[in-house]
Amino acid sequence: MTVAKRIDGKAKAAEFAASITRETATLLDEHGIRPGLAVVIIGEDPASQVYVRNKKRTAESCGFHSVQHKLAEDVSQTDVLQLIDNLNNDDAIHGILVQLPLPGHLDEQAITQAIEPSKDVDGFHFVNIGKLTAGHTSDAFVPCTPAGCMLMIEDELGNDLSGKSAVVIGRSNIVGKPMAALLLQVNATVTVTHSRTKDLPQVVAAADIIIAAVGRPEMVKADWVKPGAIIIDVGINRVEKTINGETKMGLTGDVDFDDVSTVAGAVTPVPGGVGPMTITMLMANTLRSARLAAGLEG
Ligand code: GUN
Repeated sequence: MTVAKRIDGKAKAAEFAASITRETATLLDEHGIRPGLAVVIIGEDPASQVYVRNKKRTAESCGFHSVQHKLAEDVSQTDVLQLIDNLNNDDAIHGILVQLPLPGHLDEQAITQAIEPSKDVDGFHFVNIGKLTAGHTSDAFVPCTPAGCMLMIEDELGNDLSGKSAVVIGRSNIVGKPMAALLLQVNATVTVTHSRTKDLPQVVAAADIIIAAVGRPEMVKADWVKPGAIIIDVGINRVEKTINGETKMGLTGDVDFDDVSTVAGAVTPVPGGVGPMTITMLMANTLRSARLAAGLEG
């Protein structure tokens, strides 16, 4: 029985973060510029609180100027837009991220589109989406999760995917759609699947590269996988797990890791795969934004 390689996203992210930390120190030494990241969190969603804490911790360890704005669950749209306007005009801030999901009364689109495209380190502004889709990524910000997935895919297969087929499961704006654009840019033949796709297991089974981003625990099984395929698991699902007879809440991906490992070439684990890479890509985007603002890139 073959056993797939476990792609260590945590180690790769740590290595990449170390290079960002070194470049940040150089930017400060040579140009007196410290990358600044502002993270806005609204309400008390427990998963969002954890993500935001990790982002802040990583930003500080990279040597960034890191600020966090915690707004009440019932904050008004006007107050959120005012804060974004202030951050857009703050020269010490190079990246602005508003953690999603937002409380229901807020207009997510108006808020994400209010962020200055040059500070949109999430890559959610239509200007950045348009540049990515048009293949004009030299000064665009690419959403962090798909950007991190791409680095892991390139590690396994190189940066030209000519002749390779990729199936993206899920068509979200945060992952599925930008992931498809990135894969296309490096010449993969891309299929985007979703809840209305017919015969999903058969479609997935044709792929050399599988990106699972649907939010269904352990949906992708061994019999969905072509032998040797590379599998990137973007899912983060909270489920009850029984370990040594004890039941606890734990995280699991959209892929049945143990099952697919009998067939696949390489698989990312959850946790320890895509998650750490996503946070590091946010730091990379923020450093790049600071360099672009100083006319050092682009
Ligand atoms: N919530 C889940 N993923 C993300 C992300 O990549 N960016 C933001 N802003 N919120 C999220």
